[in-house]
Amino acid sequence: MESDTIPIIIDSGSKLTKAGLVNGVQPKVVFPSIVGRVRQRSVYIKSGQKSAYVGKEAIIKRGILNKRYPIIYGSVYNWDDMEKLWHHIFYDALKVMPEEHPFLLTVKPLTPSDDLRKTCQIMFETFNAPSLYLGNNASLSLFGANKTTGLVLQMGSSLNYAVPIVESQCLKSNIGVSGLGGILITEHLNEILATKGIKYFSHQELEHVRLMKEQYCSVLPIQKKEQNNLELNESDHNFIKNQKAQLFDSTEFLSIDEKIVFCTEPLFSPQYAEKTIQKIQKSNDFSHLSKKPNFEIGLHQLCIETIHSLPKEKQEIMFQNILLAGGHSMFKGFSDRLSNELLSLFAESKQQINIIAPESRQFSSWLGAKKFASLNNFHDFCLTMDDYDENGPYRGILKFNL
Ligand SMILES: Nc1ncnc2c1ncn2[C@@H]1O[C@H](COP(=O)(O)OP(=O)(O)OP(=O)(O)O)[C@@H](O)[C@H]1O
Ligand SMILES: [Mg+2]
Repeated sequence: MESDTIPIIIDSGSKLTKAGLVNGVQPKVVFPSIVGRVRQRSVYIKSGQKSAYVGKEAIIKRGILNKRYPIIYGSVYNWDDMEKLWHHIFYDALKVMPEEHPFLLTVKPLTPSDDLRKTCQIMFETFNAPSLYLGNNASLSLFGANKTTGLVLQMGSSLNYAVPIVESQCLKSNIGVSGLGGILITEHLNEILATKGIKYFSHQELEHVRLMKEQYCSVLPIQKKEQNNLELNESDHNFIKNQKAQLFDSTEFLSIDEKIVFCTEPLFSPQYAEKTIQKIQKSNDFSHLSKKPNFEIGLHQLCIETIHSLPKEKQEIMFQNILLAGGHSMFKGFSDRLSNELLSLFAESKQQINIIAPESRQFSSWLGAKKFASLNNFHDFCLTMDDYDENGPYRGILKFNL
């Protein structure tokens, strides 16, 4: 492959952007999908500095910025910021000329067509992309796992999607959407910390809580019976007893207890996070989504309801091929718990359950996209600049198998 034809893969999530050239083993850059605009124009005009910062730089310079995430709950919220984020990927992070590379951009299941068209328009008209492919992130995750049929549980920061795919065709009208995403568990952990007198509010503090969640939290193997009565074995108790987490901007440490470790329980029993769910529902508008996210059922139920919405003859193969994908599926014990929940519900029947949990699934969409863009005939699936000029974005997006 000529260096100037190497595709660029971008998986922009509501929390994290993963990007890199197709010849990388993993995404070359992973950074927060955050854009910060300098609050006072006079500050950057006088100092000759930039008017906006993206990702880690935006966090470092937070004092002088208004910060926003351009993607919120499955949809692009601010296109100027989205364009800034893409600009940063090309020119600062990957140091490539976008007009020299084909692109593969991942999109979420059920992304509104307006967002798809606008993405095409910016890629071709602003960045002069020679060719573009938009791929459904769940289908790409499945492709990366060498499968063409299965139920992908795509778990990200904002939403989780249960996506049935049959012979590479995504069954869009059967997709299940859950609001029990990464943000919810981070916020729920924050609520638990507040009951211990640790009150965190700022973006930086919440980032600290997110990292604490990723480092210390895991999923119980079976459903907990009562809030304060966890049935743990001795090694679990010892593990928890010895953990201490440093507090934000402090030399003090917090002892990690069972409430903190198992703050993940709402993934299967959402009633434990009632307060956090209400807060998220109140402060977010989900009206742009074609399917309202469900906050009432656990993720095992989401899988079952999605599979049961399919014709009978397709159900068995789905239960046998449940693929976990996305950073939020990385909790220790998550795969076993999901399996236990499903098995206990089907104890009477002969239904086989098989959950596939690839090791690098926090990058599953990016890795699947990389594999797809490495196909010899990848170019045939792309929309070229000529196609776009001839047909425009309305007809252009019909080329993608979304
Ligand atoms: N090791 C880990 N254990 C638990 N959670 C993790 C781990 N690593 C990442 N996460 C969580 O996964 C989420 C990020 O996942 P991912 O990168 O797939 O989402 P995203 O692409 O930003 O969001 P979305 O696809 O919803 O727009 C965050 O909530 C993060 O805290
Ligand atoms: Mg994502």
